[in-house]
Amino acid sequence: MTGDGLLAHHRLREGEGTPLVLLHGFPLDSRMWHDIVPLLPGSFPVLALDLPGMGASPSGHDVALRLQVPDVPSVELQADAVADTLAELGVDRAVVAGLSMGGYTVLALLERHAWLLAGAALVDTKAGADTEEARANRLRIADEVERSGTVDEVLGMRRAVLGETSREQRPGLVDRVDGWIRDQGPAGVAWCQRAMASRPDRYDALRAYDGPVAIVVGDEDELSPVADAEAMRDAARDAELTVVRRAGHMTPIENPEPVAAALVALVGRVSV
Ligand code: MLT
Repeated sequence: MTGDGLLAHHRLREGEGTPLVLLHGFPLDSRMWHDIVPLLPGSFPVLALDLPGMGASPSGHDVALRLQVPDVPSVELQADAVADTLAELGVDRAVVAGLSMGGYTVLALLERHAWLLAGAALVDTKAGADTEEARANRLRIADEVERSGTVDEVLGMRRAVLGETSREQRPGLVDRVDGWIRDQGPAGVAWCQRAMASRPDRYDALRAYDGPVAIVVGDEDELSPVADAEAMRDAARDAELTVVRRAGHMTPIENPEPVAAALVALVGRVSV
């Protein structure tokens, strides 16, 4: 891999062959993947990106300017920014894994840049669109974080993203997620909420993709429940489902071993 990229990218492991690219959830950044890396055998490179407005990446506004597209928050723009970044890094094919919001980005990549994807992992995510109520709530939260100039409105997610077992038995995980959320800027949080609010149902993109797919879900995930993961498994042509025990919506930190195993199995299914 060479060159700079539009989005902030973190080379978590150098190596040979098709890279594994990791896309984080909301309202977080690429650090949520760090526990996985030491659990990945093999020598393939591992790269984590920060999505627009999050972590060390430029704002959605700046990304839109750079890509010369309308300055409107969207998951499509997230996907185009990922594709542009990988192209700048000299990556023409990758296995891409996304958690929740990152999974929405992977689904948009399937629709817009399928040639890039040697394999896709959909972790703690869903392919359906929001209900009207969920959409309205996202827009309300976006307005509120902008009005307050803080991320207070989304701090409740430090507990909501964890499963019941983690909430009761591992308070350190709540603190860890809390720290990651507090590191994000209100503008980026608002931009992502508006982007996710506008995303369409992407079951058709999943049905059309003929590469290998890994679907991973925590059995205590209350935000993207097991039923959503099963529906994606049924829609995809070549999918394997991993249900992670005693984990909620943050399987890579709550129970990383089975997540790493599912990603390694996916890399092994990729045709070279
Ligand atoms: C996430 O973890 O990325 C969020 O739960 C996504 C969402 O709000 O739908």
